Amino acid sequence: MTSSASPTTASSRTCLAIVLAAGEGTRMRSDRPKVLHEVANRSMLGHVLATVKAAGATDIAVVIGPDREDVAEEARKVLSGARIYVQRERLGTGHAVLSAREALEQKPDDVIVAYADTPLVSTETFAKLRAPLANGAGVVGLGFDAKDPTGYGRFLMSGDQLLDIREHKDATEAERAITLCNAGLMAFRGEVGLPVLDKVDNKNAKGEYYLTDIVAIARQLGHPTAVVTVAEEEVHGVNDRAQLAAAERMLQDRLRQQAMLAGVTLVAPETVFFSHDTKLGRDVVVEPHVVFGPGVVVEDRAVIHSFSHLEGARIASGAGIGPFARLRPGASIGSKAKVGNFVEIKNVELGAGAKVGHLTYLGDANVGANVNIGAGTITCNYDGFSKYRTEIGEGAFVGSNSSLVAPVTIGKGAFVGSGSVITESIPDNALGLGRGRQIVKEGWVTAFREKVSANKKK
Ligand code: UD1
Ligand code: CA
Repeated sequence: MTSSASPTTASSRTCLAIVLAAGEGTRMRSDRPKVLHEVANRSMLGHVLATVKAAGATDIAVVIGPDREDVAEEARKVLSGARIYVQRERLGTGHAVLSAREALEQKPDDVIVAYADTPLVSTETFAKLRAPLANGAGVVGLGFDAKDPTGYGRFLMSGDQLLDIREHKDATEAERAITLCNAGLMAFRGEVGLPVLDKVDNKNAKGEYYLTDIVAIARQLGHPTAVVTVAEEEVHGVNDRAQLAAAERMLQDRLRQQAMLAGVTLVAPETVFFSHDTKLGRDVVVEPHVVFGPGVVVEDRAVIHSFSHLEGARIASGAGIGPFARLRPGASIGSKAKVGNFVEIKNVELGAGAKVGHLTYLGDANVGANVNIGAGTITCNYDGFSKYRTEIGEGAFVGSNSSLVAPVTIGKGAFVGSGSVITESIPDNALGLGRGRQIVKEGWVTAFREKVSANKKK
């Protein structure tokens, strides 16, 4: 569902977002880079890019690992203006941010750093993280109260001032008792960024250039710091498939909540799965166990009955889909049309008020308004090499169990007799029949029985 998220602070300040996408992701045990794994049918990288953009980023830098053309391609697909930087060696988060040095040198007012493996951070949170920069803060950290702080950097506070961030490995026992942890995402003023980042060294337990060190360095240079806090689940990071599933669960919950608050009835919300871009009108009803793949738009008052699977489909107002319907890309269902059980529709304009009730495949067709498609109708759209179209004029009636061998046209108001194989076009208001003629043989069975029983007695 597209959240109509608008940044909470409208700002004329320029903002560079640096998205770290160089994660190795070995724990995913995947041939695919971690940040290209999907939640709600969009890559984690795609989510983060869309979110920072919505939060007002005017320039976006994506830091990728070496030889990751696939990650670069996804970034450009989501945001054509994204600038790609390669971190050649993995020397730490501070080093990763400095890989985008060229973008930092352009002196943006604000800089935000996001992790591509942390896909649930909201637009509002990024906007909140930025806000203190306009009031003079040099660096802003994003904190959360960790149930188990092991492994996270700890916020060392004095009042509301963030003094330093201590990585777990470098922390004393006393520091490890702190539960206010670093989510990793940060914001800093552009003019503060480069001079401070260039002072970061790697003298620590991991031998890495820590981004977190900019807090203490900025303070030494007299820049105030600030902290913004969020719920732990919002900064949920994904390192393995179980954490990926947890992210999916949380995002689905959000999408369901958004849908219901926008006027959609979900009878059993926990059984309905959305894509990030699902669009649902007012008074739409979605029955239990429905899956929305990418690119679905459902207009007002349509009803999606149970066990339906929809992707790339548009459903006009008041239409009824399912139960057990499958709408594939290019299915456009007219207003008040009915698509019933065990019907598959792909790349079809189905006119207003048309009925496709049962056991049917429609592919590559234009179906006029108020057409009635009988049970078991198949458009034979493929000959093993190419796809062909079927045109069915408004008000036509296709009898049950007919095969329409494309390319073929059924005229307006025409009839197709049940069980026909239609290979030639039918003019408007004509009847097309393409089946063997029925014959009846009076008394045939009686004669047959006599013959069989006579043979048995021999
Ligand atoms: C980091 C923070 C820690 C915070 C935690 C939250 C630092 C030094 N520490 O620790 O305070 O609590 O995140 O999850 O920043 N990355 C690169 N290049 C590198 C190193 C990392 O791109 O050279 C990327 C990773 O792919 C990942 C992110 O930066 O997306 C965080 O790196 P990671 O090594 O997981 O940092 P943590 O040790 O978890
Ligand atoms: Ca981590």
